[in-house]
Amino acid sequence: MENGEMVLLRTFLNEKPREFIVCVSEDAFHSDFGIIELSELFRLSPGDRICSHKGQEFIVQKPRMPDMFRHAQRSGAPMMPKDIGMVVAYTGLCKNDVVLDAGTGSGVLSMYLGSIAKNVITYEIKENFANLARNNISKAGLHNVEVRCGNIVEEIDKIEEKFDVVTLDTINSPEVVPKVRRVLVPGGFVVTYSPFIEQTIAIRKALDASGPWDVMTIECIERPLSVSERGTRPGTGGVGHTGYITIARI
Ligand SMILES: C[S@@+](CC[C@H](N)C(=O)[O-])C[C@H]1O[C@@H](n2cnc3c(N)ncnc32)[C@H](O)[C@@H]1O
Repeated sequence: MENGEMVLLRTFLNEKPREFIVCVSEDAFHSDFGIIELSELFRLSPGDRICSHKGQEFIVQKPRMPDMFRHAQRSGAPMMPKDIGMVVAYTGLCKNDVVLDAGTGSGVLSMYLGSIAKNVITYEIKENFANLARNNISKAGLHNVEVRCGNIVEEIDKIEEKFDVVTLDTINSPEVVPKVRRVLVPGGFVVTYSPFIEQTIAIRKALDASGPWDVMTIECIERPLSVSERGTRPGTGGVGHTGYITIARI
């Protein structure tokens, strides 16, 4: 593995998985499992094993997007993988697509999009959030996601590029939606995510006023199952609801 590359180290303790993301370097990594010399990773490949000085064995893997979701630094509340799955599925996002995203927040959605699409440009209004997202994106090894610091409500009027998909996860979505049509390719999509029904209604009204659109709104609910010796049933913890997704196509 190469200098600066991010690596996922996975092991089991009492049959429970434990994992760390580390960077290939000359440094040592300390945890309750002991010390791992990260320079050993230079001669290893994904699938190989590495041991701490206490003899704990880890499998070496390349981090994938769900790993980045768990390990990324947080600023704004990131979009959940189940919701991101809906964005990808309903837009048919693919490797040739160019995507505009706002607000960047922790950069989780833009990282997932960047792992599939050709290019992603994402706008974040807060400089410190933009920097945190750039750091996460760099750790994910993505070079096709550009974080621009700015207010999407104003910046979208200056954008000259055209996009296959526009994703909006910001409180200002109703103000942005009427401006999206100008930057979409024919047949392109705009997808909005809102935690509240009131915002979703405002988005639908803004879409209707700037129509026509082929539009639908969904609530994507995930219900994890609890599996044990005693039986299997829907888990009692957590809430399946995260938000509403509106998908509109010109
Ligand atoms: C809920 S977070 C987005 C999370 C992101 N989708 C992710 O998966 O990590 C919303 C973000 O939008 C940013 N934001 C709010 N208004 C904005 C605007 N007008 N232009 C750009 N970013 C904005 C906020 O600062 C915040 O970081």
